Amino acid sequence: MSTVLVEWDRLQLGARVDDVLDVYAEAMEVPRMAARSRRSVLAGHLDRHGLRAVAALDGPQLVGIGYGYLGAPGQWWHDQVRAAMAPTLAEAWLTDAFEVCELHVRPSRHGTGLGRDVLLTLLAGTSAGTAVLTTPDRETRARQFYRAGGWQDLVRGLEFPGDPRSFAVLGLRL
Ligand SMILES: CC(C)(COP(=O)(O)OP(=O)(O)OC[C@H]1O[C@@H](n2cnc3c(N)ncnc32)[C@H](O)[C@@H]1OP(=O)(O)O)[C@@H](O)C(=O)NCCC(=O)NCCS
Repeated sequence: MSTVLVEWDRLQLGARVDDVLDVYAEAMEVPRMAARSRRSVLAGHLDRHGLRAVAALDGPQLVGIGYGYLGAPGQWWHDQVRAAMAPTLAEAWLTDAFEVCELHVRPSRHGTGLGRDVLLTLLAGTSAGTAVLTTPDRETRARQFYRAGGWQDLVRGLEFPGDPRSFAVLGLRL
């Protein structure tokens, strides 16, 4: 079956929250129910300014998803990342930034160019001057994927409250 990329509005994204979290669970190798406990986090993003979502669909099945929005002070992730940056770095990267919140592809489809297609489509439609995201600060597949796409390390060793993992903040000029 051929895969199509579709831009979803906030209503479509909201209607498919469980599918999005199932793709997240598979891609991140976490239990499905643990992933679904993130429903309220995703729901809280639906009214964010500049929200964009791109779905990769095989017929009705969601096989990849990316979404993000234009970040702003007062939002939890934005404030955590800003606090980890020197003011000049934050000014350069966070003042007009599309924050990539989720990007996930089902493992059976990894390495087929789908992640890149979803990400490029997602970023192509934003007005922002930069894109930023966090990813575990390890040599993961995602880290290599972003590096290959031109993303640069802005911050390393970032820790979020309540999460034992260490994260890197990555940025891309658009
Ligand atoms: C990260 C992820 C979205 C990438 O999607 P993907 O469809 O597997 O990646 P693509 O096939 O589009 O790769 C695009 C390019 O990235 C690079 N790349 C991807 N995986 C790589 C790897 N393991 N090593 C080196 N380069 C890699 C290559 O340059 C590749 O281009 P090429 O196919 O021309 O060689 C996907 O692997 C995934 O969902 N991972 C688990 C969830 C996750 O970590 N998401 C990100 C959270 S921040």
